[in-house]
Amino acid sequence: RCNHKVAVLGASGGIGQPLSLLLKDSPLITELSLYDIVNTPGVAADISHINTAAKVKGYTGPDELKDSVKGAQLVIIPAGVPRKPGMTRDDLFDTNASIVRDLTKAIAEVAPKAIIAIISNPVNSTVPIASEVLKKAGVYDPKRVFGVTTLDVVRANTFIAEAKGLDPQKVNVPVIGGHSGVTIIPLISQSKPAVSFPEDKLKALTTRIQEAGTEVVKAKAGTGSATLSMAYAGARFGISVLRALNGEQGIIECTFVKSDVCETKYFATPCVLGKNGLEKNLGISKLSEYEKKLLDAAIPELKKNIQKGEDFANRK
Ligand code: APR
Repeated sequence: RCNHKVAVLGASGGIGQPLSLLLKDSPLITELSLYDIVNTPGVAADISHINTAAKVKGYTGPDELKDSVKGAQLVIIPAGVPRKPGMTRDDLFDTNASIVRDLTKAIAEVAPKAIIAIISNPVNSTVPIASEVLKKAGVYDPKRVFGVTTLDVVRANTFIAEAKGLDPQKVNVPVIGGHSGVTIIPLISQSKPAVSFPEDKLKALTTRIQEAGTEVVKAKAGTGSATLSMAYAGARFGISVLRALNGEQGIIECTFVKSDVCETKYFATPCVLGKNGLEKNLGISKLSEYEKKLLDAAIPELKKNIQKGEDFANRK
């Protein structure tokens, strides 16, 4: 078993704290590095008392950023501001774009081979931003940059299981496309086990999966967006990456990556993870007529989000 240092950037936040907690619980991690601009001494002291192997260290402020990521095999980024009611993920762009750009610059410098998993929204734009920053630094490897869309799969599994009275842990619904609104394309026709719904129910379920984040934003009434379920999903994705790094075969996660499976430069699909990050993109496979329409609706929005990220990263 390999030694794995994992860094969480934005570790004191609503996502960052429970994410760090779940990672501390994983026996795959030997060193857990917690970075934020505030409160990491407390979060790190607290988590460090948990009796698992991972050594925990807190880092605070820009001066300590590079030390926090140095030597990390995996860097997970939940840093940024969350949505308030009435906001779309794209409304976060102005703040979160520069946060992701600056964090990625530091990673490019001191951990150029690290696998980067981006949670900060809008993921459809922050993944292209990070990729452009890495390109400029001459260290870009598209197999190592992932947008975390696992929560869309987690939600789809939960809602489909609920509707059919199944065990949610035994349901797997692939979700492709992007990570906001209409760009989220649940492939209910490819659910395992196979399920079927009348058209109106299928549409309602699809919309619920696409708008599930907004459901949480509304319920939290101004105090934030999904944090606990996002942390669960982020930890599942991170641990899948580590299992694959350890040589475990057949680890598959849906994730937003550089892609040529359709006409957008980035696209989420089920991907086999391996020792170098993305091992094999499993592509889109056969869509139902309804899912083809969802894909048509997603593409223009996705293209716009991707372009916006690239333009931001490449402007002076
Ligand atoms: N570097 C590191 N951490 C930062 C930076 C930065 N430049 N800027 C902000 N942070 C930290 C904050 O200090 C805070 O601890 O990021 C954390 C964000 O936490 P919350 O405000 O609680 O937000 P959260 O709900 O965790 O969501 C963060 O994830 O899903 C996305 O849309 C969500 O983009 C948002 C992000």
